[in-house]
Amino acid sequence: MSVLQLSHVTKRYGAFIAVDDISFSVEKGKILSLLGPSGCGKTTTLRMISGFEVANEGAVMFSGIDMKGRRPYERNVGLLFQDYALFPHMTVVENIAYGLKHRKFDKAKIPDRVAEMVSLVKLKGFEHRRPGRLSGGQQQRVALARALATYPEVVLLDEPLSALDAKLRQELRFELKEILAAVNATTIVVTHDQEEAMSLGDSVIVMSGGKIMQQGAPTEIYADPKTRFVAEFIGRSNWFSGQLAPGTGGLAKFKATSGINMIVPVSGGHLTGGQYDVCVRPERIQIDAATVASAGTPVNEIRGAIRDIAHLGADLHLVVEIAGGQLLTVTEKYTGQTLEQTGQEVSISFRPRDCIVVPSGS
Ligand SMILES: Nc1ncnc2c1ncn2[C@@H]1O[C@H](COP(=O)(O)OP(=O)(O)OP(=O)(O)O)[C@@H](O)[C@H]1O
Ligand SMILES: [Mg+2]
Repeated sequence: MSVLQLSHVTKRYGAFIAVDDISFSVEKGKILSLLGPSGCGKTTTLRMISGFEVANEGAVMFSGIDMKGRRPYERNVGLLFQDYALFPHMTVVENIAYGLKHRKFDKAKIPDRVAEMVSLVKLKGFEHRRPGRLSGGQQQRVALARALATYPEVVLLDEPLSALDAKLRQELRFELKEILAAVNATTIVVTHDQEEAMSLGDSVIVMSGGKIMQQGAPTEIYADPKTRFVAEFIGRSNWFSGQLAPGTGGLAKFKATSGINMIVPVSGGHLTGGQYDVCVRPERIQIDAATVASAGTPVNEIRGAIRDIAHLGADLHLVVEIAGGQLLTVTEKYTGQTLEQTGQEVSISFRPRDCIVVPSGS
């Protein structure tokens, strides 16, 4: 049974719909990433799960039990908010113990539990410091320890790493994942950083305008987005808009409005032609590759000219101008190869199966 389940949950503020009929579930010990642009309803969703906000419609269930009418303190939730909200006048140990005291946890057992949490989040030696004398990363770990101390059924983390600088964010992302795994926490992580969502989550939900646009494993969302919105939100993308001919044998002809023709995949026969957008990820495009297609496997080839090359450590980012002045982004691994020159004419190629076809305007 799912530890957490939302069923057709809607939240309205007056006429405005902040969360619109969302349903999902999280299994024991799994991490769900909730991803989407600012204002799409992520925090509101967490607030309804924790009981700080009441849904207008739908049900929030913990292990099959409807939480309707239960106050926040009557729900076994561990919370971590963006600004951590640590008590500035309390030490690390007092902050971590706060929830345990508040929840009438067996008093005699509190010191042991706090010590356990201090060691879990690697803060030994800092027990008696106040938050003002801790780094951002250390404060974040105190907040996490406080959220996990009460053996919560559900852990809700709202932008847990957003107050940290980029380098620390990356380090703590891995640490956070390890800590959550160590306590087998059933977790929702809210973020608007797609990399963070993909690396933390066993599954990812992309929201927009209060609705769930797509849910799936990170790789599935990246490789098989169902709409242009999701494809653009997750990773870099190059786009062609145009007309799809009815397909046969899993492939179809696509004519972009710029005049470029290509072969794209069609699935399940539900693409019967019409107006579509085609996405090709930058890393799926090859420049001047030996495109000797083996029999029966067509390759899409386009002529273009290099407009820019940026050397970003292990990666090369190239901008290629093709027919109609359209600019494509291409990424390559840099392994010491001879670099193309700006202005150089090139042939770029990509396989039909590397094209993602979505309804136009989706
Ligand atoms: N108490 C409220 N009264 C009226 N509108 C609200 C209230 N709380 C949130 N909203 C609106 O509901 C929408 C969703 O807000 P929410 O805080 O869930 O967004 P979010 O996805 O968490 O965004 P962010 O990434 O910026 O934190 C927003 O348009 C917000 O203005
Ligand atoms: Mg928010």
